[in-house]
Amino acid sequence: MDIKGIEKYLYDVSNWVTSVLSILERDGLRSEDEKHLHTELIVFLNKLEDVVTNRPITVEEVSECQRTANEIFSFSQIVFDLGSERIKTHKRVPIGGHTLPPLPYPYNALEPYISEEIMRLHHDIHHKSYVDGLNKAEKMMEKSRATSNYDLLKHWEREAAFHGSGHYLNTIFWNVMKPNGGGLPSGGLASQIQKDFGSFNQFKEHFTEAAKKVEGVGWSLLVWSPRAQRLEILQTEKHQLMTQWDTIPLLVLDVWEHAYYLQYKTAKDKYINNWWNIVNWEEVENRFEVAYKLKWDSY
Ligand SMILES: [Fe+2]
Repeated sequence: MDIKGIEKYLYDVSNWVTSVLSILERDGLRSEDEKHLHTELIVFLNKLEDVVTNRPITVEEVSECQRTANEIFSFSQIVFDLGSERIKTHKRVPIGGHTLPPLPYPYNALEPYISEEIMRLHHDIHHKSYVDGLNKAEKMMEKSRATSNYDLLKHWEREAAFHGSGHYLNTIFWNVMKPNGGGLPSGGLASQIQKDFGSFNQFKEHFTEAAKKVEGVGWSLLVWSPRAQRLEILQTEKHQLMTQWDTIPLLVLDVWEHAYYLQYKTAKDKYINNWWNIVNWEEVENRFEVAYKLKWDSY
């Protein structure tokens, strides 16, 4: 590594340490392991600062930093993988207040499978633009509600669907990858895959083909259907096609022509206005009560 490469490496490691520290500090240190990791990270961050400021940087110092970084990275994986002990951040995200989640590993951690350069651009530029686009759409729709001016609503709903789904799917994407991953699933998921797809290999082949056959840009997704009580494989084009993944429908209104045309003909507005008289709020409340129990980390 030349001096520029070393500087960049130390800078990346410092950034990673800082982002892990911010995750740990966000909700307090809840276990001995978290406290221990926190202390190790602070000591290491100070060490990194010393190395960078006290020039020249020696080869020994860099090797020591690499060794410590690897040890702390392995330990942080254990702390973050402790199931129920895993750090949870369940907060209400205010309107227009979504933030870019930190990567759960350094930018170069997925090499050689995904390059550091791709991870930097994908996370820092692309994902950040989804967060910014979603925030803007939400603020504009908030403004619509305040002024009762819905002239541009279709545009902002499209923006919220595109950027919101991009943000939520990428957030899942970062967390379903890790260095030294791969292998086979185990436990309940393994038996459910066996049950619903016949075998892991059949699941894998179907998922792979779904990804390869996405028309244009999009995603391949393994999903759980609470209705069918089955796993299913879906494709999506772009991120959304007017939905926002990682959300659960509570109240829905069918505005296909088949739902009103025979009675209302072209008076779709009248159908929609009248529909409010027949909403079963008890069912919506029941769905909300169940859905509300599901909480992911918020960003
Ligand atoms: Fe992406």
